[in-house]
Amino acid sequence: MKVLVATEKPFAQEAVTQIKNIIEKNGYEFALLEKYTNSNQLINEVSNSDAVIIRSDKITKEVINASKKLKIVVRAGAGYDNVDLEAATSKGIVVMNTPGQNSNAVAELALGLMVYIARGKFNGKPGTELKGKTLGIHAYGNVGKLVATIAKGFGMKVSAFDPFISKESIEADGVKVYETVEDLYSNNQYISLHIPATEQTKNSINYNLLSIMPKGATLINTARKEVVNENDLVKLLVERSDFKYVSDIAPNNAEELLEKFNNQCYFTPKKMGAQTAEANINAGIAAANQIVNFFENGDTTFKVN
Ligand code: 3PG
Repeated sequence: MKVLVATEKPFAQEAVTQIKNIIEKNGYEFALLEKYTNSNQLINEVSNSDAVIIRSDKITKEVINASKKLKIVVRAGAGYDNVDLEAATSKGIVVMNTPGQNSNAVAELALGLMVYIARGKFNGKPGTELKGKTLGIHAYGNVGKLVATIAKGFGMKVSAFDPFISKESIEADGVKVYETVEDLYSNNQYISLHIPATEQTKNSINYNLLSIMPKGATLINTARKEVVNENDLVKLLVERSDFKYVSDIAPNNAEELLEKFNNQCYFTPKKMGAQTAEANINAGIAAANQIVNFFENGDTTFKVN
């Protein structure tokens, strides 16, 4: 049984070591493909693997169809929009994620990005504090919940919108609940995005929503670039010099935005949210254990297809 770790953006060394130990301790073969530069390398390696652990690596129909004995794909992380679920399901391949394992790293970065932009990208001039400011959390999942906790430590006034989570459970965290997404956007100086990229959410953060944010508003995106409508974002940045956009996933038009709206935008050079030793170790170990449990006990907890 061959278990491949395929990560274009490598895990911390400690995570790789621990994954390898789990795989080998259970009598399976361990293989590693890191920093690959084209999809053919991925296709080749996956083609003779039984299981694969990935991050944001794209498991396309092509990769799936070229696989000869693949039985399980585990996305070490939360979002699985990088896996063609339909193709996997049609070949009887199980797809899982490891929810919650890298959430704290993403939540810490969301606050870090807020501090960075509030302080004018550390340009030496007076900035503003987060204390006393309003923060709206768009989707109260594992990351959103942790963002709320940390933001309250900063003294922010925290609210959320999430139609899939009960009002009572959000309020139990001392977080105000808005019943509509429009109310969330119009009542908060900061909005932190934590929605997945799905057919319903792609481009859903549009001009109508962004334009109702109050003066001096900032949108923080540590979720997915696809959820923000990039044309609408440009339109808003042109109209409102008070509006800021900070993202851990650079938009397609990042260069243009940084050139024209440098004071209003910041993008990390590579998606950094889950890029901590702790997140890599937690998600990596969970992925390896889920694979072993699947093969040994038929356990399909965290199956997403
Ligand atoms: C996730 O969905 O878990 C995060 O976006 C992290 O992605 P990464 O593993 O590519 O850093």
